[in-house]
Amino acid sequence: MSVFRLKSLDRILADSERPQQKLKRALGPMQLTLLGVGAIIGAGIFSTVGTAAAGGADHLGAGPAIVVSFAVTAIACAFAALCYAEFAAMVPISGSAYTYAYATLGELVAWIIGWDLIIEYAIGNVAVAISWSGYFQELLRGLGLEFPVWLGVDYRTAAQVGGAQAAGVNLADLGAAIERAARAMTEAPEVAGIPIVFNLPAFLIVMLVTWVLVVGITESAWLNSAMVVLKLLIIGFFLLVGFVYIKPDNWTPFAPNGFRGVSTAAALIFFAYIGFDAVSTAAEETRNPQRDMPIGMIASLVVCTIIYILVAVVLTGLVPYTQLGTAEPLATAFSALGMHWAAGVISLGAVFATTSVLVVFQLGQPRIFFSMARDGLLPAWAAKVHPRYRTPHVTTILTGVAVALFAAVANINEVVELTNIGTLFAFVLVALGILVLRRVDPNRPRPFRTPWVPIVPLLAIGMCMYLMVELPWVTWVRFGIWLGIGLLFYFLYGMRHSTLRGTAS
Ligand code: ALA
Repeated sequence: MSVFRLKSLDRILADSERPQQKLKRALGPMQLTLLGVGAIIGAGIFSTVGTAAAGGADHLGAGPAIVVSFAVTAIACAFAALCYAEFAAMVPISGSAYTYAYATLGELVAWIIGWDLIIEYAIGNVAVAISWSGYFQELLRGLGLEFPVWLGVDYRTAAQVGGAQAAGVNLADLGAAIERAARAMTEAPEVAGIPIVFNLPAFLIVMLVTWVLVVGITESAWLNSAMVVLKLLIIGFFLLVGFVYIKPDNWTPFAPNGFRGVSTAAALIFFAYIGFDAVSTAAEETRNPQRDMPIGMIASLVVCTIIYILVAVVLTGLVPYTQLGTAEPLATAFSALGMHWAAGVISLGAVFATTSVLVVFQLGQPRIFFSMARDGLLPAWAAKVHPRYRTPHVTTILTGVAVALFAAVANINEVVELTNIGTLFAFVLVALGILVLRRVDPNRPRPFRTPWVPIVPLLAIGMCMYLMVELPWVTWVRFGIWLGIGLLFYFLYGMRHSTLRGTAS
């Protein structure tokens, strides 16, 4: 069956050497680690952590035991990272998990992963852009500037708030963000009876990042490195200042919802860890990928895990966890202690942090499309490289416009959960790929070997599936619909245009 045809690793590597489709090799281990940290620390630790600790509508928060959730998720990610590292060193191709699957599990699974990675990168960035916009507006408010409210929230939240209002829910109980969304609906100008509400800052930041990415990989890495240094400084500030104000009483009760709360929070804050795998999409722009890919992925994951656990300890020690259920919990904690200036510094840090996440994910998505187009599963124009900048400019611009438009109207919580399920699914397939390739091609040189195979890949699969199960069923339904659309595309286009067409499976 042609849908199970494999693309041999030798052919994958040879294709990437074609001069007209060659990217510029400029990155070393330090830049890759910074790229990883750039992708990881963002909306997750600055926004999602609040809902995870305090609980969302279900009030099933982890409380101070969010520290345990962070540790559990870090272990799942560490197993997955060890699997990714073996592939990234062996197949240093910009398509990441998509390419690994093509070599091991066949074309159909590769397509499914490629399609699924759109959720991780593009949809994930929609969430990050919305978070960026929230903190950016918070900063402006701190400076006494109020952004027109109908240009600062998304239509979906505003419409949901309208629905809640009609149902008689008391909006005052739901916090400032909801109050703004309600105001947006009444203040918005109308066109043909429809209120015009959209998230303009989220749209603009994505377009700005897209422009930098078209101009060049060196410029993008530079922008990322600058943002990473700034965000690390501001997280250091949070830890140092916060440490002084910890009240140990806030750590009891430690796990108000027991194991249930810890598990639900773990599935949610998984979002905070997504990104170490994005390092693999820069493989074709790395000088020595065999050595540096594993370093970049594992080092960035370790650094971020340490930071997250420290932030979780300090954050839950500052105020009772029940107060953290806001979109900007780190700033909220300082505000609750009357330290508005410190809350302002944190908002600035969040703007830097989310900008760097946007850069790396916006860098990753076009490179995956680029690999898929090179294989014929997407139209050839998607694999074009800019003659001067040597970047995949067509896919970069298309991704940028799509993400920017979606970010202007989407609701962050729904997008975060969808991103998590899509990414966890990709991790499962990568770990599976390691098991398959060790069996079918045991002698291929592996510059980095996942330790304790099959135990580590099996644990990666088990833990990622456990986190997937913790996500709401509606997320599963959305994910299923997305994969269904992807399959349709494959059978209508990819299968017929694959460069492997006519070769044996
Ligand atoms: N890990 C990234 C973030 O938290 C996606 O923003």
